[in-house]
Amino acid sequence: MELVHLLLRYLHLLGFAAVFGGWLVALLSKRLNFNSAMLYGIATQLATGIVLAGLASAEPDANHAKIGVKAVLALLLGVMIAIPVWKKREKVAAGHFYATGALIAVTAGVAVFWT
Ligand code: HEM
Repeated sequence: MELVHLLLRYLHLLGFAAVFGGWLVALLSKRLNFNSAMLYGIATQLATGIVLAGLASAEPDANHAKIGVKAVLALLLGVMIAIPVWKKREKVAAGHFYATGALIAVTAGVAVFWT
């Protein structure tokens, strides 16, 4: 069980790298477009996050509020990222683009700082 947990946490970190890395590439190339790395990254976060949340809930000191906040933020990000990618938008509005990057950073911050 411990190995499964570690493997899921590892995949969760790779998903974070993909979604934030994809966003950084779009920022630095000044294209303000969303890419497949972001889509697969957020899908990985949602899939691994749900299982990690299930495992965490089994612990007596589980932080349900934190997991709930992360789930809401990640679902919001899923919609914000998937719609422009599926519609093959060349670029998104600047506000949408920067809000997405900020929300990814906030979600990772919630994971790390809310103990
Ligand atoms: C954009 C979306 C997400 C980002 C950027 C993100 C980021 C992270 C990061 C960086 C960690 C590692 C924290 C640490 O080890 O100190 C983590 C852990 C965790 N995340 Fe996420 N996450 C996201 C989505 C989700 C979702 C949707 C859920 C569940 C509903 C979730 C549940 C968890 C849980 C339970 C852990 C603890 C894992 C453990 O300690 O074994 N995450 N997340």
